[in-house]
Amino acid sequence: SAVNEIPKVKTLPDAQTVTEVTHWTDRLFSFRVSRPQSLRFRSGEFVMIGLMGDNGKPLLRAYSIASPNWDEELEFYSIKVPDGPLTSKLQHIQPGDEVILRPKPVGTLVHDALLPGKRVWFLATGTGIAPFASLMRDPETYEKFDEVVMMHTCRTIEELEYGRQLVENLVNDELIGEMVEGKLKYYPTTTREEFPHMGRITTNLENGKVFKDLGIAPMDPATDRAMVCGSLAFNKDVMAVLEGFGLREGANSEPREYVVEKAFVGEGI
Ligand code: FAD
Ligand code: A2P
Repeated sequence: SAVNEIPKVKTLPDAQTVTEVTHWTDRLFSFRVSRPQSLRFRSGEFVMIGLMGDNGKPLLRAYSIASPNWDEELEFYSIKVPDGPLTSKLQHIQPGDEVILRPKPVGTLVHDALLPGKRVWFLATGTGIAPFASLMRDPETYEKFDEVVMMHTCRTIEELEYGRQLVENLVNDELIGEMVEGKLKYYPTTTREEFPHMGRITTNLENGKVFKDLGIAPMDPATDRAMVCGSLAFNKDVMAVLEGFGLREGANSEPREYVVEKAFVGEGI
């Protein structure tokens, strides 16, 4: 019959192909996918990605693009939520598989939302480092600022590894290695495992430990800008600390001294 002659749709809508998957811990992995030719984005933005659900409808979640905007592919850094509707499945993707990617990037962690300054702080917990994995690899970051401080805090050392390798590879990168050298200051800390630098980001900013350890001046609203990405509780507490230093929250429509985005919705796992 005529119905049988209708060709089956073989690919997902907005399908992209997985090219690489790296598992960092039992609850963290990163993956790379092909980039739609027409996709333009500002480093720091997020898109909706996902898989086809059992009901035949796309199951989509917000994901920060972790790769810089000059990269041919797109990289993502993901949590594995054991019972999570998306990540219980997404964690099993392999090179060659397809994921759905809606090519409409949005977000507040963009250079346009900050006033010009001398130093920028990237403040992240957990997978909140993803937008900064993009921004740290973007030449614009080093054109706009003399100094870039990346503070990343996780419970354990293994959870820092994705960020650590990223920073290490950056310095050796032929495209922006020279721009980064001497400008990027990486300050990883743990809170629940022994490590050279420990403590919450809020604590290390409030007691001045990070300024002392890096040998840099305290935050000043005249020179310092910040971007924040972590759990709701983290974001709330960091905002209070930044306001204490005299920084004010900005937005795309009204650039100021700092911007914030949730790394996820909910209490965390
Ligand atoms: P969900 O039902 O979405 O989540 C279940 C529970 O797991 C949540 O209630 C929360 O308690 C916890 N959870 C979800 N995501 C995280 C996380 N990242 N870290 C710790 N606990 C979490 N997730 C990423 O892994 N990488 C990203 O780059 C990323 N970017 C995001 C950007 C934005 C703007 C927002 C709003 C969310 C982002 N998320 C990111 C979270 C993501 O959208 C999903 O929540 C996550 O993929 C889990 O999906 P799920 O369907 O398996 O579980
Ligand atoms: P801590 O171990 O002291 O709770 P989580 O795994 O719970 O999402 O947390 C990731 C990291 O963020 C942990 O190192 C945690 O420290 C830290 N953290 C959690 N909540 C806050 C907060 N409100 N302010 C600052 N740091 C926080």
